[in-house]
Amino acid sequence: RIVYVNGDYLPEEEAKVSIFDRGFLMADGVYEVTSVLDGKLVDFDGHAKRLERSLKELDLVAPVTMDELLTIHRELVARNDLEEGGVYLQITRGAPADRDFVFPDPAETKATIVLFTQAKNLANSPAVQKGISVISIEDQRWARRDIKTVQLLYPSMGKMMAKAAGADDAWMVEDGQVTEGTSNNAYIVKGGKIITRQLSNDILHGITRAAVLRLAKEAQMEVEERGFTIEEAQQADEAFITSATTFVQPVVSIDGATIGKGEAGPVALRLREIYIDESR
Ligand code: PDD
Repeated sequence: RIVYVNGDYLPEEEAKVSIFDRGFLMADGVYEVTSVLDGKLVDFDGHAKRLERSLKELDLVAPVTMDELLTIHRELVARNDLEEGGVYLQITRGAPADRDFVFPDPAETKATIVLFTQAKNLANSPAVQKGISVISIEDQRWARRDIKTVQLLYPSMGKMMAKAAGADDAWMVEDGQVTEGTSNNAYIVKGGKIITRQLSNDILHGITRAAVLRLAKEAQMEVEERGFTIEEAQQADEAFITSATTFVQPVVSIDGATIGKGEAGPVALRLREIYIDESR
């Protein structure tokens, strides 16, 4: 695989980052995952806008412009012959001379930028027809989940808790309501209405979420942005998740309780189809 690091395209074995990089020492960095379908990037602009916002919220100065970033994404997709999967991008605050809690002066320490591709079946994922099972866990992340930082330890622990319980993923709960999945946004469907938590600092503002809600409204489907409890989700007709790596994926059980008929629901499958059609 050819990867990108600080201006160079290199075989992955040759790519190097300093041990003093603040991404490594302090999880001081942000990332994006942009999906690739038929060799083309899906909604790069959405991801670039969210990246700019994440950078700004952390006073991080990108080492490249968004136009250059698009070129790098396309170049990596081409060099790796990527037909379907994703491009991972990470920008961290670079490697100052020593470990220090204080941010280094951006004039002296340039941010580190790394990109790589990952091949994955997105459009014909086997998990779609079967649906996934989720458990609920407490949301113990920090309070700025709207910033897409590389602090992914708690979401990783959440996936491990799900795995230990024989489930596929976890939905996180705060003050009695679902925030989101470990790496996706969470939805339920009741009486034809699509319900998902409103945007705030409590959740990541999913790029797939924005597209799916827009497409749902265009298809005259009813959308309500509000929080919901696990009990309400268990009594819903359908449940599903969205992200750049799953698109729309049906959820068929929550904490062992079957959702609806226990199979991929019609609303989720329709949204998935519309989303993929539009992304191609
Ligand atoms: N995760 N919520 C969280 C906590 C996420 O980590 C993600 C994405 C999403 C969905 O956002 P989007 O639709 O923009 O992908 C919601 C990526 C895919 C990841 O960490 O791999």
